[in-house]
Amino acid sequence: MIVPVTNMTNLYGRDLITTQDWSVAEIEKALSLAFEFKANRYDHPLNNCLDRRTFFMFFYNPSVRTRQSFEAAATELGGHAQFLEPKSMRLKSSKSAGETVEDAAQVMSRYAVGIGIRILETAIDYYGQGEELLRQYAENASIPIVSMAHDKFHPFQGLADVMGYRQHAGKNLKGKKILQVWGKGALVRSWCSVQESLLINSRLGMDVTLAYPKGYDLDPEVIKMCEDNAAASDSTFEIVHDLEEGYKGADIVYSRNWMTANFYDLMAKHGEAEAKKKEIEIAAKYDDWITTKDWMKKSNNAFFTHCGPVDRNAEVTDEVCDGPRSIVYDVAEARLHVQKAVMALTMGKH
Ligand code: CP
Repeated sequence: MIVPVTNMTNLYGRDLITTQDWSVAEIEKALSLAFEFKANRYDHPLNNCLDRRTFFMFFYNPSVRTRQSFEAAATELGGHAQFLEPKSMRLKSSKSAGETVEDAAQVMSRYAVGIGIRILETAIDYYGQGEELLRQYAENASIPIVSMAHDKFHPFQGLADVMGYRQHAGKNLKGKKILQVWGKGALVRSWCSVQESLLINSRLGMDVTLAYPKGYDLDPEVIKMCEDNAAASDSTFEIVHDLEEGYKGADIVYSRNWMTANFYDLMAKHGEAEAKKKEIEIAAKYDDWITTKDWMKKSNNAFFTHCGPVDRNAEVTDEVCDGPRSIVYDVAEARLHVQKAVMALTMGKH
């Protein structure tokens, strides 16, 4: 039986730039509706809540999962998702004259019911600039602004990660140990997915162990938020630089490459291609930092997860990624359901 989510109005019109901006009750409401959408994909009372409405997807950087799952989400809710790129719009930037964010946000608000924005490292000059842009849109738009991944956070990925864990490890994640481990690789990844995941996991009471080689520190402000989240949810948050310690007793293993904090300086000095080359050279030194069957044996028969795209045989071996404990495709599917839930709650007719 479908139990429709009631009292939808309190999220109507809300932005989603990071799950940290929402209360635990609001996060739970979105997750609960996402499970309803999964169970009743084409047969839910809210399946027409975006009837004849448009959602703008504004991409500064490319994507597989995000574009496709948002487009599918809009379709499944009876609406339409329109793909936009900065090159197809005459926007003001530090390098060119054009329309201000203030004007663009207000004009776009007259056409659509929500705007998603993706802006990552290679489209900005310094860490935090992507988040500033999203918050500037949010201040000026009269419709919800949602992050489709920016330099700091990736809220829909964090929600999808949790949906995947709950599907396999049970609804109550309190006391489950999650290892979030850096992996070597050639893709020079953003901090957004791992930082979002650390926030939501510590918020929901998981015992979080973050493991990485020295030199791969994440944003200290985000780490402080995770420590505060863990204290508030009576769970633990720790950072280790030792793989043995990290894998020991883990119920879920989440591997992911990320770049060093130096990437922005490298990009300013040498350009994107050379900066990436230098990062790849540094990462290649950490040969052990790949999730293998042997490392997984040290865990508590952990599920393996990755937010994608996977850098196979760099971050994780094929054997683990395709193994019986891997939940990577379920997490990818969860993107669709959590996005439908947030769109219905924040943008849907009610
Ligand atoms: N995880 C994620 O956001 O994937 P894409 O970059 O393919 O959208």
